[in-house]
Amino acid sequence: MKRSIFCVIAMCYVCLFLTTVFAQNQTAFFPGQRWEDVDGNTINAHGGGMLFHKGRYYWYGENRPEKGFTTEVGIGVYSSDDLLNWKDEGVALAVSEEKGSPIERGCIMERPKVIYNELTKKYVMLFHLELKGQGYAAARVGFAVAEQPEGPFTFIRSLRPNAGKWPADFSEQDIRKALTLDEADYPDWWTQPWRKAIADGLLLKRDIEGGQMSRDMTVFVDDDGKAYHIFSAEENLTLNLAELTSDYLDYTGKYIRIAPGGQNEAPTIFKRQGVYWLITSGCTGWEPNEARMFRSTSLWGPWEQLPNPFVGENANKTFFSQGTYIFKKENTEDGYIFMADRWMPASLKYSPYVWLPIDFDGEGCPVIKWRDQWSPEELK
Ligand code: DGJ
Repeated sequence: MKRSIFCVIAMCYVCLFLTTVFAQNQTAFFPGQRWEDVDGNTINAHGGGMLFHKGRYYWYGENRPEKGFTTEVGIGVYSSDDLLNWKDEGVALAVSEEKGSPIERGCIMERPKVIYNELTKKYVMLFHLELKGQGYAAARVGFAVAEQPEGPFTFIRSLRPNAGKWPADFSEQDIRKALTLDEADYPDWWTQPWRKAIADGLLLKRDIEGGQMSRDMTVFVDDDGKAYHIFSAEENLTLNLAELTSDYLDYTGKYIRIAPGGQNEAPTIFKRQGVYWLITSGCTGWEPNEARMFRSTSLWGPWEQLPNPFVGENANKTFFSQGTYIFKKENTEDGYIFMADRWMPASLKYSPYVWLPIDFDGEGCPVIKWRDQWSPEELK
């Protein structure tokens, strides 16, 4: 009898030990370190975006394989109520097994962002899509919708934005000038005449008919509920900011170009005290580079370039990361988080995440400093 009581007590201790080991709560962010979900698996949600909805955070991101660069699973989603402990909610948008589908297994899906549409009550996902077997040549945006934040999302279509449309800030005279440009006249990139031609719309004009190229991207919903797609167009040389229709599933046709020829990737954006801030990266593949920052009091510009907001050691490499999204923690005045990926092309699945708080200097300009560890309570 005594022996069996001893056994039961011992078992209880073992169970308690196992529960505390495996259900350990994460109490801080550890930028650049391995981040596990509540089941102890490495979080696989790269190039991610965040949705806060009905008291819960949803982190959408690229489910990447251990080896290789193509999408074999789809877009994953995790949920959390504290931003630290994440539950794997599975595949939000799955690749298709159908041959020839735009999202056929082996395509490339990157940088998914999900926004909630108050009018349609649907969750809308936009993502960068490259068609199977075409490398990064297709440069399209994909649209998908779901009834619930966890999905499943249904793929609607992919396209190149704003076919047949000129930017809102292009005058009749600008259009006439762009129409005279011919790529054959500019065989050498990075020369002064080539730079001028890019600014004047050499590639913009080339892509008017089929729509603008759309690679690295983010989505922004303004206070009035209007949503915007911001993406790298013109062979990654120029950013586009394009207004979406009220259901978020199409373009109104109104768009502008930002920093033509500036080679910006990885756009991230937020609004604070009436000012819009855009933080981007340069264009060096999976290698980290120095971030750039732009400011405007209107989404329609003019956008003014300011110095890199990252400071301290390795600031010129964005702390070996590349941004993907900025969001504000609920119930904070200024609690903005910059989400980034530290890409490891040898095994993208295990690329660590770098999440850092955004500070503001005396003039209200964003400043991002490295922290080995920090907690959401620091956000005020
Ligand atoms: C940099 C982009 O930001 C990533 O999303 C990815 O497209 C890589 N380039 C591919 O080289």
